[in-house]
Amino acid sequence: MGTLDGKVAIVTGGGRGIGRGIALALAREGARLALPDLNEENAADVAEEVRALGVKALSAACDVRSSRDVDAFVARTVETFGTVDVLVNNAMAADIRVPLADIDDESIALALSSGPAATLYFMRACYPHLVGGGRVINLRSGSELQGLNGYATYIAAKAAVGGITRAAAREWGRQGITVNAICPFALSEAAQADFAAHPRALDAIYDGLSIPRIGDPESDIGRAAVYLAGPDSTYMTGCTLMLDGGGSFLG
Ligand SMILES: NC(=O)c1ccc[n+]([C@@H]2O[C@H](COP(=O)([O-])OP(=O)(O)OC[C@H]3O[C@@H](n4cnc5c(N)ncnc54)[C@H](O)[C@@H]3O)[C@@H](O)[C@H]2O)c1
Repeated sequence: MGTLDGKVAIVTGGGRGIGRGIALALAREGARLALPDLNEENAADVAEEVRALGVKALSAACDVRSSRDVDAFVARTVETFGTVDVLVNNAMAADIRVPLADIDDESIALALSSGPAATLYFMRACYPHLVGGGRVINLRSGSELQGLNGYATYIAAKAAVGGITRAAAREWGRQGITVNAICPFALSEAAQADFAAHPRALDAIYDGLSIPRIGDPESDIGRAAVYLAGPDSTYMTGCTLMLDGGGSFLG
């Protein structure tokens, strides 16, 4: 028996990294998983890992920047599993380490369309199914608080996701939907590639951590998603869990 037995969870960008960790943690608690990802093959591999845990999984190619793709994926999830109980808005792409004065239009569009716009598309499409007990979990970033150099489009996108989280928590509370967020720090493929390219940046990050290790996508971040999706967090909404080893603190 898991705490999420019978629930249906969509984890966007669940094909690797933190999305995969969250998907596996939710599946271990019995949730059925729907995994939309730009990388269809990775999502299919994670769906197989989920099935190996004894629960059903669906995966498909989906560009979260397209509301048409998002609507089609949510419709397919409902056709397959009957509803959506948990929505995790995890997928996001952005160009980082770019000085603000050099940002081009494509970079601005990439961060804003894959971050806040995609989050709104999925929340809008899932809303009728979430009414009466649904959970939304959005992925933010400690870089919002740190104001890191070269992260302007990323920070803009994540700050907007924070605003959406609070607005939806207020608006949907009386519909029985909670909306919370996670600020993670974890060894995803994206983080690994960035640290490999910028080893000195990793040293600086380590210096700023209170708990000096890089988080694990499943055991550190996925378990927090289990809490936000499960029966122990019913009185919590509009909140952000900082899961970054004490790298940044909310006041
Ligand atoms: N890794 C960290 O330490 C860290 C820190 C702060 C915030 N975050 C946030 O956590 C989330 C996951 O990060 P990650 O490090 O695992 O990233 P990642 O790049 O390793 O994985 C992202 C996943 O999203 C998918 N994706 C990207 N663009 C997409 C699109 N347009 N449509 C569909 N799928 C798309 C990718 O294919 C990939 O599977 C992101 O929102 C990120 O901003 C991560």
